[in-house]
Formats: sequence, structure tokens, C-alpha cells
Amino acid sequence: MNQIRNVKGTRDLLEDSSALWNVVEQHVRATFNLYGFGEIRTPILEDTSLFVRGVGESSDIVGKEMYTFPDRKGRSLCLRPESTAAVARAYVQHRLQDQPQPVRLYYIGPQFRYERPQKGRYRQFQQIGAEVIGDAGPESDAELLVMLLRFLEGMDFEGLVVRLNTVGDIESRNRFGAALRDYLEPHRASLSEDSQRRLDTNPLRILDTKAPAERALLEGAPELSEFLTSDCREHFAGVRRLLDRFGVRYEIEPDLVRGLDYYTRTVFEIAATGLGAQDSILGGGRYDGLIEQLGGAETPGIGFAIGQDRLIDVLPQSFKDRHQRQRPVVVVPIGLEQGADIALDIAEQLRTAGIHSVAELSGKSMKAGMRLASKLEAIGVVLIGEDELAAGTVTYKNFASREQSSVDRKDLAQIITTSINRSTD
Ligand code: HAM
Repeated sequence: MNQIRNVKGTRDLLEDSSALWNVVEQHVRATFNLYGFGEIRTPILEDTSLFVRGVGESSDIVGKEMYTFPDRKGRSLCLRPESTAAVARAYVQHRLQDQPQPVRLYYIGPQFRYERPQKGRYRQFQQIGAEVIGDAGPESDAELLVMLLRFLEGMDFEGLVVRLNTVGDIESRNRFGAALRDYLEPHRASLSEDSQRRLDTNPLRILDTKAPAERALLEGAPELSEFLTSDCREHFAGVRRLLDRFGVRYEIEPDLVRGLDYYTRTVFEIAATGLGAQDSILGGGRYDGLIEQLGGAETPGIGFAIGQDRLIDVLPQSFKDRHQRQRPVVVVPIGLEQGADIALDIAEQLRTAGIHSVAELSGKSMKAGMRLASKLEAIGVVLIGEDELAAGTVTYKNFASREQSSVDRKDLAQIITTSINRSTD
């Protein structure tokens, strides 16, 4: 029979990777809690219209990447392609505006986009996101970025630079969009198919084109900064002042517009080297019109999402080394009648003392035990045969020091703990 394989663009995370994913997630929770963020878990299934209204019809996500399907009653549902719109929906639905503002929420969970799979780009991928809803001031923008850098630096990332821009409010965006369209319309025929479509739906998106001819054409285009209202300028100046104050390194990127339609004012990304074409490990920005767009009161918001798959790909080695999973001790019974039972007893005794232990249950031979220990990269083995059993002792073989000694069973846990602590000093 044909073997069934995982769906294209999805991945199985086996033990070695999932251990690292868990460590990163613990670090998320610890850091984000420090800044007063609480976790939100929204459903993976949502009404398709949430993203059509929230993320916008002109975005690639809604235009061509959503997993959309009718359910058995013919309602159009989709697997969420991102979570900001879902968090905004939950904010409106559960009247979170009645809680002290701003509300700070974070999430860790899978997202789905029908993109062409390649390194760092999957159809099911995981995002770590944070949203601050209910505060319009530049302090929230800065505080969020400070938290983000604290989070990344806590994992030993160095020299990261935030790519920062402002896209203005809806009014400035619209005025700029119209000017850009007027400028590009005479050149329509020379634009790529994507850019021609964007010229009609959302000309701002053409700014992040990579095509050299289009880049050259954009040299003479009107600039977004000329269309900003004084409020938007002031907001952006406020964000920059606070980032300077907190020592956050950033570069202003006038062409950074981001691919989702809900952004207003501050937008940002962080790229990492070593990822190839998909080098953006995170992106975010303000979305001051989104809550209203989803039927709520006029409410500002800002947030970001980190691509966890990409983050893990570029995680500094020093962080991985510090969080290596604990290596076990293997308990090997030798020629005993009820060897497996006794090995389990000893392993349980060690676990009670917090020592990661594995019992060799086949009872085949000392060789089988040593082979298992080597496969599991054990720190040592506990050997127990007839003589030891009668004397209430075991033989402990410490692989690091290459010492072998006979120890009382009641002292075993203490001796192993001491040797672990010595080796991690
Ligand atoms: P986004 O830029 O679409 O923004 O996605 C954020 C991050 O998710 C990207 O920088 C990337 O690391 C990761 N990502 C996106 N697509 C894929 C993929 N196919 N495979 C692997 N990783 C991927 C958002 O989703 C916004 N909701 C962010 C936000 C939150 N803005 C405000 N609040």
C-alpha cells in the first residue's frame, strides 16, 4: 500500500526540535509576562469574512493564500492565515474595552497560508505574537519594541536592527496612494502582473517590489513622507525619541509598507542573516482602524508576530547549548531474576530526586545496556547484579570522569546530583 505522507508545506517536529521549540516558548511566556501580557488562544477556524474585512481584499493573504472552504452547511470558513484580526475580533466580542486599557495579549500558534513552500516558508507555520489594544500613544509602540528586543537578546541574538517606517493614517495613505497611482499609471505596461494588480487595489504595496526596473522607476516617485499629517509626524518622532532613549537600534526604511492592509502609522520588521530569501523573522505595526473595521468602537492597536519556524532556524548556538535537554542516567540490571522491576525501582528513586533516568528493560545483557546508554548520550550507568542486590548497593559508572564506584543505594541520587552539578559549574 502507498505510504501516507504529511501534507506539502507542513512539518513534523520530532523530539530534538520540539524540545527547542518548548524552550523558546517558555522564554516567550516569561518575558511577555514581565511586561503584563496575558495569553489569548483563539480558534484556528474562523469566518472567512473576518480576514476579508480585517486583513483586506487587496492583500496577497486574502487574494491568493487563504485555505477557505465551505463547511457542511455551506458557510465559508478558513484556517486563520494570521492572528491579529482574530485577536481584534475577540476584543470586540468579549467587550475587552471595559477592562483597564490598553489590553495586552500574546499568542503562540499555527497559521496557514497557501504559499510556495521553500526554506523558511511553510503552509502551516507558527507565530509568536503580541498585541496592545486601546492606546494610541508612541509609548506603546516603543515599549512593544523594547520587549521584543529584550526577548531576542535573551536568546543571545546580537546586532539586530529594527527596520522602521510610518505609513501614516488612513487619510495620508489614501492621498499618497492616489499620487503614486497617478505617477505609475503612464508606465502600467512596463509593470509586472502583480504590480499592475496592485496599482488598482493598493498602490502602496508596489513600494516593496524587488524588480530592478520597477525600483528604478520608483526613484522618481512621490514619497510617502510628504503626505503625512502633522499628527502622524509627531507620533513617529515620539516613537524614535523613545527608541533612542532605550537604546533600540533602528533604521528608517521609507519603502517598508508591509503586506497587510490594516496598518497605520508605525510599521516595522526585523530581518536575520542566514535565512536566504525569507529573511524576515518578524513583522508588525499599528492598526488604528482595525477594531472599527470589525464592528467595534474606534480603538487603536499595535502588535507584531514572529515566525517561530524562522526564529528557530537562526537561533544562536550559545542559547541552544545553554538549554540542551538533560542527559539521562541508564539503569542496567545484570542477570537478575526480576531485573526489569528492580531497574524500574531504581529509576523511580532517581526521578524523585529530579534525575532524568531510563531503565533498560530488555534485561538482555550488560552490552545491550551500554549500547542504550551510548545511544541516549547518557551521563552514566547504574549497574546492578546479584552481589549488589544482596549488599544493598549498586555500581555507578560516571562517563564524564570515567570513575566507577560501588555506592549504597540510598546515597546514589545524592552522588549523581553532585556529579551533575560539578560538571555544569
Ligand atoms: P506577517 O508579516 O504576515 O505579519 O507575518 C509575520 C511573520 O510570520 C513573518 O515575518 C515571518 O517570520 C512569519 N511568516 C509569515 N509567513 C510565513 C510562512 N509562510 N512560513 C513561515 N513563516 C512565515 C502578520 O502576520 C501580522 N499579523 C503581524 C502583526 C501582529 N501585526 C500587528 N500585529
